Amino acid sequence: MKIQRAIPSACAFVPTMGALHAGHQSLIKIARQYCDDVAISVFINPLQFENSEDFEKYPKTPELDESLARDAGASILWRPEVSDLYPESPKQISSGDIGRLYEGASRPGHFDGVLTVVNRLFELVKPKYAIFGEKDFQQLFLIKDMTAKLHPEISIIAAPTIREESGLAMSSRNMRLSDSGIREAKVISNALRAADNKDSIAQARQELNKELANSDFKIDYAEIIDSETFAIADENTTHPRAIVAGWIEGIRLIDNAALTLSRDENLVRL
Ligand code: PAF
Repeated sequence: MKIQRAIPSACAFVPTMGALHAGHQSLIKIARQYCDDVAISVFINPLQFENSEDFEKYPKTPELDESLARDAGASILWRPEVSDLYPESPKQISSGDIGRLYEGASRPGHFDGVLTVVNRLFELVKPKYAIFGEKDFQQLFLIKDMTAKLHPEISIIAAPTIREESGLAMSSRNMRLSDSGIREAKVISNALRAADNKDSIAQARQELNKELANSDFKIDYAEIIDSETFAIADENTTHPRAIVAGWIEGIRLIDNAALTLSRDENLVRL
């Protein structure tokens, strides 16, 4: 694996902000199913942080990043500097109305920053495939939408969320939780499971909120949405998804899961 500052060209591309873990490795492994050459970028994008303290505090694990990327099968690890990506001021991409909901409501400007950097990375690397995790489901939704409009030649591949044995979705933020915080955080995946296989959306929503309310998790939002439009799900929604965000020990955690309604048990959705 080559480590470089020069712009790579690669068939498959995995953009990251570093602090790699098994979740990122799974993205690289999925990329390898499409292409032999896989580039991974590590760039902590200042445009997507609402406050400079969060940006400064973002974990940096350069040696670990190299060994995890290499072991997962990446061929290039690219570490651009701000001046490599934005020699001039960046072309700002707007995430629109959906970018202002949920994560976007709590983190104003966040998704505009994400789309601005992903657009720039795509312009430079020009991959055929780019892989993003379902863990950041709203991000994935907005990136798919932007790519269809601005880079229709790139296929976005969605990768399933990788979880700890406890059910906690893997995230670079988990390393900021204490042991007891990690135990408490189980409530999030428990709540997502509790919402699954219910008779109706109303019941799924109730179970999701009931489970979270009996915990130390400070809820920001817990909602059932339509995965295809991001509208609030109703009883006619065919692809419902539970999305959750909040804080444990002051650390923001997010998660989501596709839901099946028990009325649909004998249906295979295609
Ligand atoms: O998901 C992330 O790590 C970041 O938002 C991304 C997509 C690399 C853009 O900075």
